[in-house]
Amino acid sequence: MRISAVVVIFMTLCLAGVSRAAEVDCVSCHKDLTEGKTVHPAVMMGCAVCHTGVDATKVPHKFTGKLGLAAEPPDLCFNCHKREDFIAADVHPPVSMGMCTSCHNPHRSDQPKLLIAPIPDLCFNCHEKQEFTKKDVHAPVKAGQCLKCHMPHVSPNSKLLQKKGVFLCRQCHANIERQVHVVAGFSSAGHPLKGKQDPLRKGKPFECLSCHVPHSSDWGRLFRYKANDAFGLCNYCHKF
Ligand code: HEC
Ligand code: HEC
Ligand code: HEC
Ligand code: HEC
Ligand code: HEC
Ligand code: HEC
Ligand code: HEC
Ligand code: HEC
Ligand code: HEC
Repeated sequence: MRISAVVVIFMTLCLAGVSRAAEVDCVSCHKDLTEGKTVHPAVMMGCAVCHTGVDATKVPHKFTGKLGLAAEPPDLCFNCHKREDFIAADVHPPVSMGMCTSCHNPHRSDQPKLLIAPIPDLCFNCHEKQEFTKKDVHAPVKAGQCLKCHMPHVSPNSKLLQKKGVFLCRQCHANIERQVHVVAGFSSAGHPLKGKQDPLRKGKPFECLSCHVPHSSDWGRLFRYKANDAFGLCNYCHKF
């Protein structure tokens, strides 16, 4: 329990201020917020750990601040969750904008991790589905396994990637670099797969993504460029 010490200190600090809210049993009227496959442990500590400024002796209640919250997300969340976990070289914009509740329900959910929708639907709330539904869809994308390749909050790598370059693909395609890829019949070594510059994507290294896209493609084998077969692809970089 890496956050327990913080929680204890925080709760001690707010107990003095919450006595009025605590007089009323919030759950007697708001039971639905404490039910679901996942309930936020914070809710089990009592509504007043977050809603410090609610006078619920009457309905509608009187609120100090927005909904009587001690603070708004993300600061509210950082009372108990480590702020450092949300800082890195690459930060997902909804995270840097503090929009924690665009993905998480603060109370309860039928999804794991309090998510407001299952993955990938959650992602498609903000990202165009079209990029992921072309004719040839990569198996992990089809299976909705976005998090096999991406981190949801922050990453040391660009595009929130779990790993960089070939290391990402190697997790599931370790065999590709051991076999002759693409050019069997030309050379016994196979096509170079790294250590060169990408002739078409200026400034980027030559890698798996020089020829393939990660999500889906209108051409077979996740080709990055329009081609009916392997040889159609060669022409983009070579004049044989
Ligand atoms: C007697 C029943 C009852 C009790 C007890 C009660 N509530 Fe409510 N609460 C309601 C009703 C009904 C509404 C919706 C009324 C409205 O929209 O104005 C509501 C609305 C709210 C809202 C949302 C207001 C909004 O603008 O969306 C919050 C936050 C809230 N309650 C928190 C609490 C907390 C915290 C407690 C315990 C301290 C509590 N309530 C106790 C009945 C209750
Ligand atoms: C972890 C902090 C936290 C705890 C604990 C918490 N809430 Fe909330 N609550 C929030 C936040 C944040 C919002 C605003 C959500 C949003 O803007 O989408 C909210 C919104 C609400 C609302 C209005 C919108 C809705 O989701 O219905 C009600 C009612 C409410 N809370 C009641 C309660 C009650 C009752 C409890 C205890 C059973 C409780 N909350 C515990 C953080 C919390
Ligand atoms: C009063 C302390 C407290 C506050 C405030 C709080 N949390 Fe939590 N939260 C916890 C505890 C305790 C856990 C369980 C331990 C853990 O996973 O770190 C938890 C777990 C979670 C989980 C994982 C749930 C699971 O099923 O594994 C999510 C997601 C989460 N919190 C989101 C939030 C968000 C978003 C906010 C702000 C709206 C927030 N929390 C505010 C105490 C808090
Ligand atoms: C774009 C959607 C998105 C946003 C925005 C977001 N999260 Fe999450 N969060 C996720 C997903 C997805 C997971 C589940 C990760 C997993 O299962 O590996 C998660 C997991 C968590 C967990 C549980 C971590 C664990 O190791 O169990 C906590 C706590 C959490 N988020 C807090 C927050 C807080 C605080 C914010 C705002 C600063 C926030 N999240 C913003 C999508 C999001
Ligand atoms: C097999 C690994 C993998 C899976 C699975 C995957 N992605 Fe990606 N994604 C990548 C890579 C690699 C990039 C970077 C592409 C580049 O730099 O050309 C990327 C880039 C992105 C981008 C940024 C696009 C841009 O042009 O800047 C978004 C958004 C994205 N992915 C969302 C998703 C979503 C949503 C899912 C699940 C439906 C998903 N990804 C599944 C590997 C993956
Ligand atoms: C609340 C809206 C929202 C949700 C939900 C959301 N994203 Fe994003 N995401 C954005 C925005 C805004 C950007 C920046 C613009 C862009 O690249 O489309 C972004 C960018 C990205 C990027 C590129 C990051 C970079 O460094 O360029 C990736 C990868 C990504 N999202 C993956 C995901 C995945 C995976 C999910 C689902 C778990 C998801 N997003 C859910 C809003 C969202
Ligand atoms: C989470 C596991 C996983 C990761 C990571 C992954 N793949 Fe895949 N990939 C698969 C599976 C499963 C298949 C389908 C079975 C097969 O052909 O091996 C597949 C198939 C492919 C295909 C063939 C598609 C077709 O239509 O025939 C290509 C090309 C491909 N992957 C490229 C990549 C690249 C490039 C990366 C790194 C950006 C990558 N993969 C990362 C799991 C993964
Ligand atoms: C020079 C372009 C190029 C590069 C670089 C490249 N590929 Fe390919 N890849 C192809 C072509 C062309 C095919 C189709 C071969 C065929 O149909 O005979 C293919 C097919 C595949 C397939 C499916 C069929 C098979 O051979 O298993 C996978 C998986 C794959 N590539 C993964 C990768 C991975 C992982 C990397 C990086 C280590 C990578 N590719 C680098 C051009 C490339
Ligand atoms: C996205 C660009 C790209 C595509 C597509 C591509 N190649 Fe290459 N190819 C390269 C690069 C870069 C090199 C390394 C050149 C160098 O050494 O400077 C290379 C090298 C080669 C070599 C020399 C290998 C060696 O050992 O020196 C052969 C043969 C070759 N490619 C054949 C092919 C064939 C056949 C195809 C189509 C199936 C293809 N290439 C598709 C970029 C590409």
